Amino acid sequence: MDLIDPFQRAITYLRLSVTDRCDFRCVYCMSEQMTFLPKKELLSLEELDRLTSTFISMGVKKLRITGGEPLVRRDIMTFFNAMGRHLESGALEELCVTTNGSQLARFAQPLYDAGVRRINVSIDTLDEAKFAEITRWGRLAQVLKGLDAAQAAGLKIKLNAVALKGFNEDELFSLLAFCHERGMEITFIEVMPMGDLGNENRLDQYWPLSDLRARLEERFTLTDLSRRTGGPARYVRVNETGQSVGFITPLTHNFCESCNRVRVTCTGEIYTCLGQEGKSDLRAPLRASTDDELLQGAIRAAIGLKPKGHDFDYSRGVSDGQMTRHMSHTGG
Ligand code: 5AD
Ligand code: SF4
Repeated sequence: MDLIDPFQRAITYLRLSVTDRCDFRCVYCMSEQMTFLPKKELLSLEELDRLTSTFISMGVKKLRITGGEPLVRRDIMTFFNAMGRHLESGALEELCVTTNGSQLARFAQPLYDAGVRRINVSIDTLDEAKFAEITRWGRLAQVLKGLDAAQAAGLKIKLNAVALKGFNEDELFSLLAFCHERGMEITFIEVMPMGDLGNENRLDQYWPLSDLRARLEERFTLTDLSRRTGGPARYVRVNETGQSVGFITPLTHNFCESCNRVRVTCTGEIYTCLGQEGKSDLRAPLRASTDDELLQGAIRAAIGLKPKGHDFDYSRGVSDGQMTRHMSHTGG
C-alpha cells in the first residue's frame, strides 16, 4: 500500500494544517487584515480524522499538525486524542505539532497525554518589544509560560527561529544559550518568499544561513551531522556545548531528492511540494463516498504528480519562484 512518487520517493510524512487561523500576525507570514476561509470550507474534525487515517493506512508513519496555529482550532484535542489509536496500533510512529506556543500553557499536558512527544515552537526573538513587533499580536511572556508547561509535561521542544536580517542577527548567541540552558534544540529558517509582500520585501529580510553559520564559527567549532529528516533541515553539533543546531535553507540547498512529505490544508487540498503551485483536491472525493477507495485513488493520483523539486531562487536579486499562497495556508 506504500505511497511512492514518480521519482521513487516513499511518502511517509504528512503535514496537516487544521486551520488557517492564527492568534498572531507575524509580518513575514500574514498581513494584519488577513481574510480567513469561511468556516464551512473547512474539513470537519471527523473528516480530518478520516483523511489522515487513510494516509496512515497508505504508509504515512509521521504526522505533523500545523496551521495557522493548530491549537486555536475548536475542539482540536478531540482530533489529537483520536490519533492516539494509530500510535497505539503502531501504524503511526510519530505525532508532532508545530505551534506558536500561545496556547501551550493550556494544551501541553493534554497533548502529551494524546501521545505527542515532540513539538516545534516558533520564537524569533527573546526581546519582548521585538517579539511584539514581529508577531504583531503575540506576547512573549505567554509563550514562555507555554514552554515551561510543555517541559513540565515532558514534551521535547525544538525552537524554530526565522533568521531575519537586521532583526535577530544580534540574538544569535543569546537564542542558542537560551535553548542550551533549557535543553531544547534550535533550528534557524531562511525567510521564504511566500504570501503577499505588502510593504515588506522578503529580500530585505533575507539573512542567508551561510552567513549565520560563519558567525557561529567565529566563536564555536561546528561538526556537520549526518542526521537527515527527508526535508530541508541540516544539523550541526556545537562542539563546545554539545548542542545540535539545525539550518533550514529551502532557498540555497537542494534537498528535494530525499523529500518524503506532502502537505494537506484544512480544506483538504494536497500540496506535494512547498515550492510549487501544483495542488489537488481531496475534499470532493472524501465527501463523495463513505468508502475510502475514491479518496485513496485521489491521493495516489496527487502523489503521481509530485514534482521533482522547487523553484525558489533569490540568486538573481529578485524573489523568483515567489509563491502567492501564505505559509498559514499550507503550514510551514
Ligand atoms: N519564511 C520562513 N518561515 C516562515 N514561517 C512562516 N512564514 C515564513 C516565511 N515566509 C515559519 C514560522 C514557523 C514555521 C511554521 O514557519 O515562523 O516557525
Ligand atoms: Fe501565526 Fe505562525 Fe503565521 Fe506567525 S508564522 S502568523 S504564528 S501561522
